[in-house]
This record gives sequence, C-alpha cells and structure tokens, in this order.
Amino acid sequence: MSIEAIISQGVSNAVKELYGADVASTSIVPQATRKEFEGNFTVVVFPFLKASHKSPEATATEIGDWLIENLPAVKKFNVVKGFLNITVNPSFWTGLLNEMAQDPDYGFVSPKEDSPLVMVEYSSPNTNKPLHLGHVRNNLLGFSLAKILEANGNRVVKTNIVNDRGIHICKSMLAWQKYGNGETPENSGKKGDHLIGDYYVEFDKHYKDELASLIASGMEQEEAEAASKLMGEAREMLRKWEAGDPDVRKLWETMNSWVYEGFDETYKRLGVAFDKIYYESDTYLEGKDLVLGGIESGIMYRKDDGSVWADLTPDGLDHKLLLRSDGTSVYMTQDIGTAKLRYQDFPIDKMIYVVGNEQNYHFQVLALILDKLGFKWGKDLVHFSYGMVELPEGKMKSREGTVVDADDLIDKMIASAKEASAERFADMPREEAEEVARMVGLGALKYFLLKVDPKKNMLFNPKESIDFNGNTGPFLQYTYARIQSVMRRAGKAPEKLEADIVPNEKESALIQRLSEFPAVVKEAGETYSPALIANYCYDLAKEYNQFYHDYPILKEEDEKVKDLRLLLSREVGVVLKKASGLLGMEMPERM
Ligand code: ARG
Repeated sequence: MSIEAIISQGVSNAVKELYGADVASTSIVPQATRKEFEGNFTVVVFPFLKASHKSPEATATEIGDWLIENLPAVKKFNVVKGFLNITVNPSFWTGLLNEMAQDPDYGFVSPKEDSPLVMVEYSSPNTNKPLHLGHVRNNLLGFSLAKILEANGNRVVKTNIVNDRGIHICKSMLAWQKYGNGETPENSGKKGDHLIGDYYVEFDKHYKDELASLIASGMEQEEAEAASKLMGEAREMLRKWEAGDPDVRKLWETMNSWVYEGFDETYKRLGVAFDKIYYESDTYLEGKDLVLGGIESGIMYRKDDGSVWADLTPDGLDHKLLLRSDGTSVYMTQDIGTAKLRYQDFPIDKMIYVVGNEQNYHFQVLALILDKLGFKWGKDLVHFSYGMVELPEGKMKSREGTVVDADDLIDKMIASAKEASAERFADMPREEAEEVARMVGLGALKYFLLKVDPKKNMLFNPKESIDFNGNTGPFLQYTYARIQSVMRRAGKAPEKLEADIVPNEKESALIQRLSEFPAVVKEAGETYSPALIANYCYDLAKEYNQFYHDYPILKEEDEKVKDLRLLLSREVGVVLKKASGLLGMEMPERM
C-alpha cells in the first residue's frame, strides 16, 4: 500500500471511530505538504466538520491525535486552520525504499491478456517530402504516449498511416521523369526521401515559371492554373495511377520505396517504431465502399452532380463531402477505410490519433461519421492534438523550402552535444564518446519537445535544450551518469536496508519523491501527458543533486548511513532511467 493510501485509510477509520461517520477512503486524497509548512502530507478536514460538529482546528487535532495513536507510519502532525499536516515516521521511508528496490516493475503495471487494447497512430507522413520538425514533435509525442499507456497496463499497438497516393506524389514522379536524368538514391548518394522532396520542389518551380509566362501572355491567375500543361500532366498521371497503369504504378512503387528507406532511417535515429503500418493506397477504396454503403443505409446522400455527402448539421457541424462528383475520394474517405482495416486487424478498445491541431475539425467529423457507420470506438476516438513548433529564427515555411528538416536537425543536435561536452568526453574511448553524444543530442531534443504542454505552440531552442544545468534532457542524463559513477566507485549497493536506519529530512523527501512515481505514471496515462513525466524527472534530478551536494556518500563514515545513501542513489537512478525511458530518452552510463 502506498503511504497516501495508508493515510487515507487511517483518516477514514479515524472519522468513523471519532464521529461515527462513513467516509470512503478513496475520497480522501492526501496532498504533498506545501513547502512553507512542516510535514509530508496534508489532509483537508473541512469535509468532516458536518460529522464532528467542531471547529476545523479541533477536528484536525482530534484526527491527528488518533493517527499518532493508531498509525505507526505517522510520527507527528501540526494543524493550520482546516489543514492537517502529517509528518511520516522516518523509519517508514526506509521500509518504502526497501520495497521499491525489491520490485523490478516498480511504477509500472504490466499488461494482461484482457487489458484494454489501445491503438496509437502517429507520424503519418505524405510520401512527397522528408520529415520535418513538426513530424519530430509528432513522432516523439506518439512514441512517448504509447510507452506511457503501456506502463499503465494497456496493450498498445503503434501504427502509422502513410499517405502514399494522390496528386502530391504524382508531382514528384512527373518532375523526376522530366528532369531527373535517372537520378537514384544509389547513384546520387542522396537519401531517398530527400531525393523525392527535391523533385517535389522542382515541380513547383517549373509550375510557377509556367504560370508566370501564361500570365505574362495575358491570362488571369485562375485561367493560367487551368491551362497549365504541367499540372494537366500530373493529373493525367494520377488518373493513370488510379486505372492501374503498369508503368505509372511501377514508377510509383520505385519512388515510394526510396522514400520508405529514407523514413526508416529517420525513425531509427529518432528511436521510434511501429507495430503496423497502413498505406492510403490500400485503404482509400475501402473507404469508398463504406461511403457508398452509407448511401443505402441513409447515413450519406448523393447530390445531383453525383458527389456524396454526410449531413452532420444535426450534430452541429456541416455537410461533409466524401466522394467528389467524378467519384474520387477525399482525405476523409481514406480515414474511414483505414479505420475499417484497423478494426479488422485489431479488436481495439480505443483509438488515439496524434495529429496536429490544424486538423481538429477533421477529427471531430471523423468521430461522428465512424460512429454513424457503427464503429464502437468511433465516437470516443481521441484526437491527441498538438501545436506548431518553430525555431527561434522564424516560422517554418514548407513551400519556400526553408522547412526544418528532421535529419538535419538530428545531425545538428548531435554535433552540438559533441561541442558542448568536448571536455567531458576527452578521456573516453572514441566510440563511447560518439554514442554518448548521440544520446545527449537526441535527449536534449526529446526532453525539450516533450516537457511542454503539447497543445501549445512552441519554440524549439537548440542552444537552451542542451544546457547541462537547465531544465533539460542533458541535465537528467548527467544526473544519471553521476549516480552510476558513484555506484561504480562504491562497487556495490546493499540490496536491503536494516530496519533501524532512519533517513534524515532530505533523504526522506527524496524517498517520498520516489514513492510518487507510480501515481505520476498513472496520471500521465489518464491525461495523456508526457509533460508530467518530464517534470517529474526534473524534480527528482534536481532534488537528488541537492542531496548529493549536501551530504557525503562514499565518504560517509557510518556504514549504515552510507548504505542508505547508496541504495537511495541507486533507486533514483533506476526511476530516472525508467521515467525518461517513457519519453524515449536514453541514459548514458558515463559522461
Ligand atoms: N498525412 C497527413 C498529413 O500529412 C496526416 C495524416 C494524419 N492521420 C490521419 N489518420 N488522418 O497532413
């Protein structure tokens, strides 16, 4: 039982014995005592006044006295108005530390066969360009969310929907055919996704040139767009693709396969992965079928021009186009088909889509339509919506080609990690130094993006993210490495402490902090919040470092106290590694 649960139960028993009232222990939630007061936990007694018929102070004092008498875990208390501040018996903390140190799963709940099955979709790129900073935020959030849900005992399937067909990829294909001279990732040494992205930009350049000359010859913008030969060819290519033209399909497959190789490399470097990847080219026809079926069952309707719509006005939304008049499907249609295939593959209980907040409306509509179509998780699908991320230099503009490329960013982070820690790495074997720089560069990136509220737009500041003394990933990693260094020098930490070791105030506070870990994991799972985990890591690391500065560990002469400090240090390391692992971070053993 956690100490909070022990106190809740104790207070519930006290109220019953003192005042004869039944108060569920689950309704009593002890909070960590505020810094300006003495104590570890605070219980608010106002809800018990009806039963006690006494003043808040008198009630709190009576309950406090009862706890001292009956709960060995409680050492003393003080009362501030209706607040009962409880100080826990120091030896209780030692017991708690022993318990966590014995439990290899501490903080986590293992999934069982019948645990809820949650699918987390993230990344979901289009195949016409490489991943950028926005995808990085997406990938890190999605991966972390999946980890957190797993740690809460859910069975989790990580998935990705690749938007691999459509006019965007035809533009790249066409530009490559026209201007590519047979360039391949192999003969150019370019990463496949970058190569395709370059041709996408190339298409745009030629298209703009064409428009400019049409406009110069007297056309209006719209006229020019309609008259563009290049765009006409791209559309023709899409039609051929839909008709299954073998040459177009072959080119499409080849170029997409280049892109996937590139994506895989980026995913690997980011440390994210998927259990199952879906492709729009496999799902969009399923969506079309479902929509057509929906007409028969009266969920959708057809307009005179042949287009198909869903009327969502009864739910306060709009009419939503699902098939164009020429029969081609739209973005939403694909998502309907994807939902069907996913549900066929996995009997999921919950679906979470990690997608930027510019698609909030899309997911509101999707939830309604899936619900109408009878998907049991449709209505409750979670759109895990997140804000934009920018660099301090200014907005990322994808059209102008100034977008922050994910691979570049990773390279730069690792390079600055090397620079920032050149001294630390000086006497490390070269390979280890490289590996640590990689961990630190990525750790800085991950922590910085995950420590903030995902809903908010943010600036990614590379310099700030790598500051070893700030609220950063490298600060956590450094703390972890420092602990491992203590452990190495100590040779061995005790497995278990004797009962008669009593921790001092700082040590107790640190054990209390460790004891909060399971509740933090739980709350992060319930609120889908990697940021909670990040902030917990920071508090823990900060507190440990203070402890480390204030007290000797290896030089401590009292062997029992030394044992306590070693076990405490070891456990902080264990929890730090577990918690930061939920953010996808890696912890170096030395740095
Ligand atoms: N590929 C889309 C884009 O880049 C995002 C897809 C999000 N996922 C979904 N199920 N619609 O905008």
